[in-house]
Amino acid sequence: MSLWSKHAIFEKNSIILVIGVLIVIAIGGLVEIVPLFYLKSTIEKVDGIRPYTPLELAGRNIYVREGCYLCHSQMIRPLRDEVERYGHYSLAAESMYDRPFQWGSKRTGPDLARVGAKYSDEWHRDHLHDPRSVVPGSVMPSYPWLATTDLDYAHIAEDMKVNAVLGVPYTPDMIANAASDVKAQSVADAPEAAALVKRYPKATARDYDGDPSRVTEADALIAYLQVLGTLVDFKLYDDKANIR
Ligand code: HEC
Repeated sequence: MSLWSKHAIFEKNSIILVIGVLIVIAIGGLVEIVPLFYLKSTIEKVDGIRPYTPLELAGRNIYVREGCYLCHSQMIRPLRDEVERYGHYSLAAESMYDRPFQWGSKRTGPDLARVGAKYSDEWHRDHLHDPRSVVPGSVMPSYPWLATTDLDYAHIAEDMKVNAVLGVPYTPDMIANAASDVKAQSVADAPEAAALVKRYPKATARDYDGDPSRVTEADALIAYLQVLGTLVDFKLYDDKANIR
């Protein structure tokens, strides 16, 4: 019996054929996917990327809780129209500490990957309270409770510990100071702000929600929005030749 006649076993029995096809596809898939887990180039190291501060992380949790990702992506594609509208296309490293990532798949509103520093804190306050007060005709929902609800950050250190288990480089020092860093970042001129910036380069401590007497959910969410896309200095990387 030649080798080719053995092939008749597959051709005459559909179940064996299906199993054979699955095995071949699985091998092909593994050959393509497995190296990505080991290749250093899968996520290139990029200067400036750091884990979120505890306040930003708490804001990110609110972003997820409120379902902002249902209308907003955080992933600028390397296409000319996107780059001209939003700025440099997103790098893998920019979302390497996002667990889970917030790339999103729907854009009812604009991409937010580089919204940080685009508007003032006050604009964000007004916009979250009532989007139509600053953008007439906006279809974004209002989130008036954020500015009036105290931020619950009792478990933010545990949250950081879980992120650390998943590979985010939170140090024991960062985790131990989580609660005091939340307070320090949400008011202007806190004496602990210098230690905060040492732990998290480029972190800005200021009164995001306009109410210095308390830490609200708006403080956290605006701190998060204002850091998006600001960690990498793209002047170092901008290479127009890369834009297709
Ligand atoms: C129902 C869809 C929808 C949801 C949900 C939504 N947005 Fe929006 N968002 C929009 C639309 C549409 C715009 C554009 C009009 C405007 O600026 O209000 C927008 C604009 C924005 C902008 C300004 C972006 C820019 O570059 O001008 C920010 C910031 C923003 N949204 C944040 C949020 C946050 C934070 C949440 C969750 C708390 C959220 N959005 C939830 C639809 C949505």
